[in-house]
Amino acid sequence: MPIPFVEPFRIKVVEPIKQTTREERSKILAHAHNNLFGVAAEDVFIDFLTDSGTNAMSDRQWSAMMMGDESYAGARSFKNFEKAVQDVLGFPHVLPTHQGRGAEGMLFQTLVKQGQSVPNNCHFDTTQANLLTQGANAIDLVVDESADSSSQSLFKGNMDLEKLEAFIQKTGAENIPLGMLTITNNSAAGQPVSMANIKGTAAIYHRHNIPFIIDACRFAENAWFIKTREPGYADRSVAEIALEMFSVADGCTMSAKKDAIVNIGGFIACRDESLKLKIAQKLIVHEGFITYGGLAGRDLEAVAVGLREGIDESYLAYRESHTRYLGDVLAEAGLKVYRPTGGHAVYVNAARNLPHIPPSQFPAVALANMLYIEGGVRTVEIGSLMFSHPDPVTGEELPAPNELVRFAIPRRVYTRSHLDFVGEVAREVVKNADAIKGLKITWQPELLRHFLAKLDWVEN
Ligand SMILES: Cc1ncc(COP(=O)(O)O)c(C=O)c1O
Repeated sequence: MPIPFVEPFRIKVVEPIKQTTREERSKILAHAHNNLFGVAAEDVFIDFLTDSGTNAMSDRQWSAMMMGDESYAGARSFKNFEKAVQDVLGFPHVLPTHQGRGAEGMLFQTLVKQGQSVPNNCHFDTTQANLLTQGANAIDLVVDESADSSSQSLFKGNMDLEKLEAFIQKTGAENIPLGMLTITNNSAAGQPVSMANIKGTAAIYHRHNIPFIIDACRFAENAWFIKTREPGYADRSVAEIALEMFSVADGCTMSAKKDAIVNIGGFIACRDESLKLKIAQKLIVHEGFITYGGLAGRDLEAVAVGLREGIDESYLAYRESHTRYLGDVLAEAGLKVYRPTGGHAVYVNAARNLPHIPPSQFPAVALANMLYIEGGVRTVEIGSLMFSHPDPVTGEELPAPNELVRFAIPRRVYTRSHLDFVGEVAREVVKNADAIKGLKITWQPELLRHFLAKLDWVEN
C-alpha cells in the first residue's frame, strides 16, 4: 500500500528548541525593531522564515561530506557535483556559486547592460535587486489569476504568454539580453508553472533570439506538480519531467539551498561553452575558481547527493502533502490561506485577515509579528515592505500586488505535531485580529529594505 503522507525518513539526530514566554517574545521583537529578521534564531520556536538552506541533510549527504576533496583546482568533489547537475538537469556546463544570488550576480554582470530589461513570471527579491544594481529593469509578467488566492487553477505561477509577446514587441528584443522563468514561482505564492507554459515561454524567447534562463531553485517541486496535475505526465517520472523542462532552456541559475536539500550552495548551468567561459571570468574574481565557486569540496558533495534525493518521488509526495496539511490547519484556524497551496510554503492573505490595516501600514508584517509574539512562530512578509515600488511615471509609491505572510517549510525538519501547534497559535491570533495594529518604518536601507528596516507599531 502506498503511504504518501508519512515522512519517508526517520530521525537520527535531534536539535533541541527553546521555549520562551509571550512576555519575553514581546520584548525580543521590540528589541529587534519589530523586524523578524532581527530576532535571534534561538528565540524562535518554529522557524518558517525560509525554506532556503534550513533543510535537514540525510545520512548519505553527511557521509558524502566526509569525502570532500578540498583541492583548489580540479577537485573530485567538483566532478561529482558537475555529474549530478548534468544527470538531473541535463546541462553540459556547470559553474558552482556560493548560493543562488551569486549565480544571478555572475550571469547578469556578464550579460545585462544598464537600461536593459529582463522579463520573468516573477523575479524573486534577490533577482530583482541583482538587476537593479546593474541599472536594468526587472519585469514581472505572471498570469493575472496568480493574484486570486481562491482560484483553484493548478498552475497559477505561469508566465502570461500574451503579455510576454507584447512586452518584447514594445521593448525590442535587442534591449532584452535574456529572459527568465522562475519554477516554482516563489513571489506568486510558490505556485507551479506547467510544462506547456515552460515550452510556450521558451518558444517566444527563442523566436526573438533571446536566451532563456530558468530560475531553478524549486525545479523538483515544480516537476512533481507537473506529474500530479498536468494531463499526460502521470506516468512519467519526476526525473524525466525535470530533464524535459530544462531541455527547452539555454541555462539556469539555481540556489541549491532549496531543492538540492543542502544548507549552502548554488550554480549556473548552461549549454553554450562560450557563455560559460565568459561567466567564468567574473566568477573567478567574485566567487572563486571554476571548480569550487565559493564552496568547500564537502559542500559540493552534499549538493551532488541532495540533487538526486530532491527528485525522489516518495519524498516529493510527502513534501507536497506536508505543505498542504499546514494549509488546512491554518485555514481551519481562520487564516485566509492561498489555494491551492504551493510546494515549499503556505501563503496567507493578510490583507483579508486584517482589512482594517492599509498596505501602507504593512498588514502582513503585523500578522507575522503577532504569530511570533503569540507562539514563537517566525514567518516572513511578502508584501509591501518587501515589494512596494515607485510608479515609473508618477514616482508615487505603489503597494505590492498582494500582502502575504509566507510560512516556508524547511525540508525534512518539522513533524506534523509542529504543524498542529502552529495551527493553535494561528487560532489565538485570529481571535484578536481586530485589535492588531499596523506598522510604520522608522529607518530603511536603499535596497532590499525588508531585511534591515526598523519599524514601530502605529498608535491609533
Ligand atoms: C526563486 C528564488 N530565486 C533566487 C533565490 C536566491 O537564492 P539564495 O538565497 O540562495 O541566494 C531565492 C531564494 O529564496 C528564490 O526563492
